[in-house]
Amino acid sequence: MEIVKHELNGFILNFLHAAPGRTASSPTLLLLHGTGGDENSLLDLGRMLAPGLAILSPRGKVLENGMPRFFRRLAEGVFDLPDLKLRTHELADLIAAASVAYKFDPAQVIAVGYSNGANIAASMLLDHPGVLSASLLFHPMVPFVPQTLPDLSKTPVFISAGRHDPIVLASETERLVALLQQSGAEVAAHWYSGGHEVSHAEVRDAKAWLQTLLTPFQATS
Ligand code: MLT
Repeated sequence: MEIVKHELNGFILNFLHAAPGRTASSPTLLLLHGTGGDENSLLDLGRMLAPGLAILSPRGKVLENGMPRFFRRLAEGVFDLPDLKLRTHELADLIAAASVAYKFDPAQVIAVGYSNGANIAASMLLDHPGVLSASLLFHPMVPFVPQTLPDLSKTPVFISAGRHDPIVLASETERLVALLQQSGAEVAAHWYSGGHEVSHAEVRDAKAWLQTLLTPFQATS
């Protein structure tokens, strides 16, 4: 797959075109890295989860001691909520602009986020429902609690969490699962014995979950 390195709407990003044989409405994966990652960090994960899908992989614009992130935080797990709102909006705008620039279907964008990237994906679900058609959130937190719950009845969500994650407590994951379910989302919550890192077992389960969503979009050749 050809990789385009680009700057769009102020984001540095990688875009990988879909493999030949994919239909125009085939989903695009939006890869959202964790703190200190960049536009390259999750490419292998994206390719592993869904070989042949188009990939949009931006670098977070915020720097924390030189480490890219998708929004500012005041302390570990304490988010700068006005900045989170603004950055979530910017990311929604990037998806719209990229769908025009790279010719993909903006109605079929599946987020794959890890840690800080999972948190902005969760913020997108809560603040801009309809932008993401599905989400895979690896080790997410509750980004904020909206005053009015969005309608996520058409937005399936995969969540993975580590029972011994020192950054995301199990109760935090449970709160997010409940919030998304109260918003109508079908949530597949998967628990693992490890910490904040992504394990092989998580990738295997995420791939199987994604595969069932992708069945209607199978390659034509
Ligand atoms: C965040 O700030 O989004 C979370 O604490 C996860 C992380 O450490 O990046």
